[in-house]
Amino acid sequence: MTKTALVCGAGGFIGSHLVKRLKREGFWVRGVDLKFPPFAETEADDFAIGDLRDQYFCRQVADRKFDEVYQLAADMGGAGYIFTGEHDADVMHNSATINLNMLDACQKRNVRGMFYSSSACMYPEHNQLDPNNPNCAEDSAYPANPDSEYGWEKLFSERLYLAYNRNYGMRNRVARYHNIFGPEGTWEGGKEKAPAAVCRKVAMATNGGDVEIWGDGTQTRSFLYIEECLEGTIRLTRSDFEGPVNVGSEEMVTINQLVDIVAEIAGKKVHKRHIPGPLGVRGRNSDNRLIGQKLGWKPSASLRSGLEKTYEWIERQVHRNTKKAAA
Ligand code: NAD
Ligand code: GDD
Repeated sequence: MTKTALVCGAGGFIGSHLVKRLKREGFWVRGVDLKFPPFAETEADDFAIGDLRDQYFCRQVADRKFDEVYQLAADMGGAGYIFTGEHDADVMHNSATINLNMLDACQKRNVRGMFYSSSACMYPEHNQLDPNNPNCAEDSAYPANPDSEYGWEKLFSERLYLAYNRNYGMRNRVARYHNIFGPEGTWEGGKEKAPAAVCRKVAMATNGGDVEIWGDGTQTRSFLYIEECLEGTIRLTRSDFEGPVNVGSEEMVTINQLVDIVAEIAGKKVHKRHIPGPLGVRGRNSDNRLIGQKLGWKPSASLRSGLEKTYEWIERQVHRNTKKAAA
């Protein structure tokens, strides 16, 4: 029998890629979002446009016992969105409401389990002060001290999904994503994350020109390519391990190094101009010991290989916009 999947947030970056992946595997897929994917037609068999903060809409879309349910819908963005403080109330209210409603709707429909996308932003700030030595092991989560309200909501919702496992016998799975990037992700407008922002800025810079970077550029991060994120997501969903578990890359770089790699891919020399901006934690890197142990798999692709594909796609978007503006 054909397997069925429900993807909440299917109009977003990770959700739209996940729909494609599940279709390749032969699933019948329903996508749900406030909007269709902005960069390519959805491949979902059915796409419900609506607001998952509305519990009646949640019950409507969870109208059958789906084999797999992926809950990716959230009010989120990169540092320019979650660290300014301007969206804190909306981020907490919107994302928590979506999770409360969808989980309840699925439990009532006897869905076996859901996948939930938490974030590395739930880790305590005090373990991420040293850019060369951040600690993001899963068991370092408590005592909790995330540096953003976005992170606190993720921590609350992780606990919510796991409470439904204990009290209702569900098989929910929780991943902590570490900065996912790739083609067809947000690349302008304020919600974009560092890899997309840097690709855009380098693509728009002249050879020898300036590229603005928030902070001194010595803050560290790791970035995971979308295909590996999907692989980890699907493996966890179908495993016996509930998590929470990191799904991220262990290839930590400074933001200055990220710019250097992108500039090299673009074949340009650029001058980094460090300016004030929202920064987030000083250092962050995925710790992949647990995922390796529990799933017998961990991401392995190089940052550069993912950036090559991402830069090519963003450069095309930049040229397309420039042509439109000139017409
Ligand atoms: P995204 O913003 O591209 O996708 C989220 C989607 O949720 C959007 O299309 C949005 O329209 C939809 N949505 C928001 N509110 C909704 C509502 N009320 N009803 C219906 N749909 C709604 O983000 P993404 O990068 O694809 O992230 C997917 C999930 O993974 C999110 O939960 C995010 O917090 C988590 N995550 C992502 C990253 C990352 O680096 N991309 C890192 C950590 C965690
Ligand atoms: N977005 C962005 N744009 N970041 C920049 C820029 C720029 O032009 N220049 C420098 N940075 C710096 C930020 O100041 C931050 O220190 C670092 O690059 C990484 O920024 P982001 O990629 O935007 O976010 P993040 O890594 O702090 O958090 C992201 O990852 C989490 C999971 O690891 C966010 O996307 C969260 O939503 C996500 O959960």
